[in-house]
Amino acid sequence: MPTIELPKRAVPAPANTVRALPQHCKVCGAEFEAAPEAICGSCLGPLEPMYPATRRLPSRAEIASRAPSMWRYREWLPFEGTPTLSQDTGFTPLVDSPRLADKLGVARLWIKNDAVSHPSLSFKDRVVASAINAAVALGLDTVGCASTGNLANAVAAQAARAGLPAWIFIPDNLEQAKVLGTAVYGPNLVRVRGHYDDVNRLCAMLADRFGWGIVNVNLRGYYGEGSKTMGFEIAEQLGWRLPTAVVVPMAGGSLLTKLHKAFGELRDAGLVTDEAPRLYGAQASGCSPITTLVESGGETIVPQVPNTIAKSIAIGNPADGVFAARAMRGTGGWSAAVSDDAIVAAIRLLAETTGIFTETAGGATLAGALALAEQGRFGKDDEVVLCITGNGLKTLDAISGSIADSPIISPKVREVAALVEAAG
Ligand SMILES: Cc1ncc(COP(=O)(O)O)c(C=O)c1O
Ligand SMILES: [Zn+2]
Repeated sequence: MPTIELPKRAVPAPANTVRALPQHCKVCGAEFEAAPEAICGSCLGPLEPMYPATRRLPSRAEIASRAPSMWRYREWLPFEGTPTLSQDTGFTPLVDSPRLADKLGVARLWIKNDAVSHPSLSFKDRVVASAINAAVALGLDTVGCASTGNLANAVAAQAARAGLPAWIFIPDNLEQAKVLGTAVYGPNLVRVRGHYDDVNRLCAMLADRFGWGIVNVNLRGYYGEGSKTMGFEIAEQLGWRLPTAVVVPMAGGSLLTKLHKAFGELRDAGLVTDEAPRLYGAQASGCSPITTLVESGGETIVPQVPNTIAKSIAIGNPADGVFAARAMRGTGGWSAAVSDDAIVAAIRLLAETTGIFTETAGGATLAGALALAEQGRFGKDDEVVLCITGNGLKTLDAISGSIADSPIISPKVREVAALVEAAG
C-alpha cells in the first residue's frame, strides 16, 4: 500500500506568552510553583491550580461577546496570558427533551450533548485542551495519557494538530473505533495487557522517566480544570440559571467533582444565584466503586476489577472517587449503578427520543437517571440536565446485537408496499 511521507513534526517553540498557574494541595494547602506535578510532596494529596484572588472576572455580557468555545471562561482556566491551542473545543449544544422529562416525571430535562464535542467527539476534548496548553506553557515537548479510549482519541487529535509527539497507553481490549480513532492521528499508541488501573500505574512511572506531560497523571491538576467548562456552559445556556439536578457518568470521578467546583465558582462570581444542583453519578454495575462508596457512607474507595461493556468508564480505582462521593452527598444527590442491558436500552431510548446517539457512558447516564427516578429521587418540579459525554459511533458493538436486521428488497414498489402493510 502506498504511504504518504509526512513532514517531520516541528516541536513548537515554548510559548512564553502563556504561563501555567502555580498549584496548591487540595488536602493540606501546601503551595507549589507551576510544574508537571500532580501530587503533594508533603501529604500525597492531589494538586490544583491556584487562581489569583485579585483577578478581574468578566460579566455575563462580556462572556456572551466572546467566541463560542470553552475559552470564553478563560478566567477560570489555569493560565496567565492567552492559550492558543485547541481553541475550538467546547460550547456543545444543550438540547431540551420534553419526552424524557415526561418519562422521568420532572418539569424540564435537557441533554448536554458532548457527543458532538470538537475535535474528537467526547468531553475529554475539554480536559485535553486545558492540559495541552499547560504542557506547552511548562516547556514539555511530548504529551501522553493513560486512557479508557476517549482520552486517547482526544490526546491523539489535539497533539497532532499542535505538532507535538504523543505516547498513548490503553488497555488491550478496547473497542476498535477507539483504537483506530486514536491511531489515525499518528501517535505512538501502545496497548497494555490489563485493565485501565494497570495502564495508569505504568504511566505514573513513565512521566518522570521520560519527561513527558501525561495529561491525566503529572498534568492532572491542569487537565481537570477543563471539565468545569461543561458546568459553565450549562448555566449560560440556561440563561444564567442552574438546574436543580445534574446526572453525570463517572469513571475516575473527575468530571462530577469539577462540575461541583464550576457551579460554586459561578455563584462566588455572582453570575448565578441559584442553589447548587443536586449531583447524581452513574456507573455500570460491573464497575461501580464510587456508587458503592456513596451507598456505604464511607470515606475510602474499595477498588474493583471492571467487568462491563461500558469500557470508557471502567476504572476500578478512581483517583477522584472520594471527592465525587463527597460532592454527591454534600449537594443532596446520590449515585446509581446500572446493568449492561439497561445501558444498551438507554442508548436506544436516548436515540429514539432525542435524536442523539451516545456511547456506553451516555447510556449509563440515562439508565442511571431512570434508576434514580424509580427510587423517587426526582420531584415533579425538578429541572434536570443529563451529561451525555461521548459519541455512539465509537461503541457500535455494544448495541449491534440488540437491533434487528433491516429488510433487504429488490428495487420494486410492490416489495415496499408489502413492508408498509406489515408495518401497519
Ligand atoms: C465518555 C466518558 N464519559 C465519562 C467519563 C468519566 O470521566 P471521569 O474520569 O472524569 O469520571 C469518561 C472517562 O473516561 C468518558 O470517556
Ligand atoms: Zn498536601
